[in-house]
Amino acid sequence: MNAPIRVRLTVLYVLVLAAIVAALTFFVVTRLRSDLTAELDRGLRDSAAQIVLAYRAEGQEEFHDTARTVLPTTGREPAGAQLIDPLGRVLLTEGTPLTSVPLLDRRALSRALGGASVASSRRLGRRQQHLRLIAVPAQRRGQRDVLIVAASLHEIDDATHRTLVLLLLGGVGSLALVAAGGWWIARRALRPVDRMTTRADAIGIDDLSQRIVIPRVNDELAHLARTLNAMLERLEDGVQARERLVADASHELRAPLAAMRAEIDVTLAQDRLDGRAREALELAGDDAVRLTRIVDNLLTLARVDAGRLELLVAPHDLSDLAERAVRAQRAPASEREIDLAVDGDAVVVDVDGDRFGQVLANLLDNAVRNSPQGGRVRVSIRRQAASTHVTVTDEGPGIPSDAREHVFERFSRQNGARPRGGAGLGLAICKEIVNAHGGRIWIDGHLPRGTSVKITLAAEQASSGYP
Ligand SMILES: Nc1ncnc2c1ncn2[C@@H]1O[C@H](COP(=O)(O)OP(=O)(O)OP(=O)(O)O)[C@@H](O)[C@H]1O
Ligand SMILES: [Mg+2]
Repeated sequence: MNAPIRVRLTVLYVLVLAAIVAALTFFVVTRLRSDLTAELDRGLRDSAAQIVLAYRAEGQEEFHDTARTVLPTTGREPAGAQLIDPLGRVLLTEGTPLTSVPLLDRRALSRALGGASVASSRRLGRRQQHLRLIAVPAQRRGQRDVLIVAASLHEIDDATHRTLVLLLLGGVGSLALVAAGGWWIARRALRPVDRMTTRADAIGIDDLSQRIVIPRVNDELAHLARTLNAMLERLEDGVQARERLVADASHELRAPLAAMRAEIDVTLAQDRLDGRAREALELAGDDAVRLTRIVDNLLTLARVDAGRLELLVAPHDLSDLAERAVRAQRAPASEREIDLAVDGDAVVVDVDGDRFGQVLANLLDNAVRNSPQGGRVRVSIRRQAASTHVTVTDEGPGIPSDAREHVFERFSRQNGARPRGGAGLGLAICKEIVNAHGGRIWIDGHLPRGTSVKITLAAEQASSGYP
């Protein structure tokens, strides 16, 4: 059964109560009926005894007189008496419900003749009158007959029927009340579960410092909430430890990488280098640049996760930043004869120079890596009203429309589009940095081929010139 717990609980309450009500109703009605019938039987037996005595002493006359006086009159349906001989023929009869037809069958008749007092109920006549019959032996002058006294069961039937209806109505009413009450109680009891679910749903890996509110009542749900909170605590510790490791490792890698690049640059500046050594050093230099970019990305990511991405905002000429990023890509670009240039307006904006340079480095790295031999890569900078637009365009395979949102997620890599594959972090970091600047970054979907990544810096971010 997949129904919610509150439905299941309510159904269970109602079923249990329905069983109790049914059992109680059955017991009360049967008991009432048997008590009333027993009382009627007692009256009929007394009457029978008196009629038998009178008949034995005085005969037929006295039979009628006594029967008339002693038989219980039960309202609208008076009682009656009948005398039948051992062959089942009616000898005498008195009262309304009785006819000339004998009221007893052969078996009951022979039992009564044997001396037993036989009680039975049966329906009789066209109106199917419900009768209670008591048969006793009656003797007169050595002749052994059977006296039957009968009374209507109509009132007892009525009384039990009324009681049954009342009990059923009461039962249905209390079932409805229990269903409503049960539903209310179950809902109230489970409300903390709803609250915990909503809260737990809202806790993402990016903010593990949140906790589930512990219900005030110290019950199983409070225990569950505490257990979940303890689990969140362990998760948070684990994630923090991982972030610290990434941050420390990246930090430690930066200094030797910078030294390595400086040494390569210095060595390359010497004229005495032979061709092959120069080529090897240039390749090592490219790799060092790449490695620096990756380490920078990891460090930025660790800072974003720790909520410590601080921006050192100052006015910067975007063309300068772009030129610097382009210079770092010159070597890999010229290897495949990629035409790499910056065009557009000289725009000065308030940004963190290092971080924004990192964004451009990531975009250019993607553009160059995805460009075909001899392709064109452009960084264009445009000033429009109070906002600034930076676009990095290439002539590579492009990014399919259904992947354009996902490429900004961490570790997202498009299959088959990974020459010298990266970690899938570049665009995620670009997005963090641009967002931290109050800007927006997205993939332009209007290009017939290639990729165009656009950045818009919000109006307040742009400043018109140096102070
Ligand atoms: N200019 C582009 N042309 C085609 N595909 C691109 C381009 N830029 C990004 N992509 C696709 O988006 C994915 C995500 O890019 P992203 O820069 O985040 O990661 P990466 O370049 O694979 O690795 P990293 O930048 O961390 O070294 C890439 O793997 C690539 O498939
Ligand atoms: Mg990249």
